[in-house]
Amino acid sequence: MKKQVTLGVIGGGFMARALVGGAIKHGFLAAEEIAVGEPSPENAEKMRALGVRVTQDDRDVASSCRCLLLCVKPQSFSAVAEDLRGIGIPFVISIMAGVTRERIASALGCRAVARAMPNLPCAVGEGMTAVAADGLTEERRAFALGLFSAAGRAMEAEERLLDAVTGVSGSGPAYVYLFLRSLIEAGIAQGLSREQAETLAFQTVKGGLKMAESTSSTLSELIAAVSSKGGTTVAALSSLEKDDFAGAVTRAVAAAAVRAAELSS
Ligand SMILES: NC(=O)c1ccc[n+]([C@@H]2O[C@H](COP(=O)([O-])OP(=O)(O)OC[C@H]3O[C@@H](n4cnc5c(N)ncnc54)[C@H](OP(=O)(O)O)[C@@H]3O)[C@@H](O)[C@H]2O)c1
Repeated sequence: MKKQVTLGVIGGGFMARALVGGAIKHGFLAAEEIAVGEPSPENAEKMRALGVRVTQDDRDVASSCRCLLLCVKPQSFSAVAEDLRGIGIPFVISIMAGVTRERIASALGCRAVARAMPNLPCAVGEGMTAVAADGLTEERRAFALGLFSAAGRAMEAEERLLDAVTGVSGSGPAYVYLFLRSLIEAGIAQGLSREQAETLAFQTVKGGLKMAESTSSTLSELIAAVSSKGGTTVAALSSLEKDDFAGAVTRAVAAAAVRAAELSS
């Protein structure tokens, strides 16, 4: 009889590696409890380095697991669903952007489907994932949240909110990198070396975040704490306000959410 594993994974690319790596590192699952279906020899090798079983046979993985994690690109889903037809998978978790729970459930004939939106920092254990798991058993919800918590933080959100989640945290790391890069380039324009500007910018973002997370002050109070009347921060903030910085961020998040909705329809 084929060995049952707790987690089967279809698609062993970047995100799968981050999630499987996090689960093993934090003791959420042992490597022997995981099997991965992955066609590319290069990605398969990187997965094997985590100690998990890797095969090119997706049906073998899907038919021997208690939960199947779908980590392929959305455009590969139809082919995967066709290949897995008729297996009777008990529980599916998908991280595919824009593929609805309903579509997954009907394509795979599985009624227990959770859909998650993780983000890039899962790769360093600081990811943020929102999981739509309402209607599932407590055990399955806890499993899904536990899996993503092993790669950072996880919270539940209704599926209708996943487009907004995509706009804030899914695409969010790119906004942070853009801000950091802009801050560094601005520092260089003021005469700093790249190394100096990078150190100043990285630690400022890190320290600013830690302060915001650890104090009871609101963000507005923290902004006020840095801004003395007639001082330098006020000059910078009024320049940002004139350029409608807040409006630009609002429009960017809305654009990502609209695009996410277009991709799911
Ligand atoms: N990256 C992110 O920040 C992020 C954030 C949120 C959600 N997501 C979602 O996560 C999913 C994976 O993204 P990723 O960045 O990890 O992509 P990726 O690195 O390209 O991983 C996808 C993997 O699936 C493999 N694959 C393709 N067809 C397959 C099949 N039939 N059976 C098994 N494996 C197959 C690919 O192999 P080949 O290379 O040989 O094609 C590749 O190794 C996507 O659906 C994406 O929407 C990603």
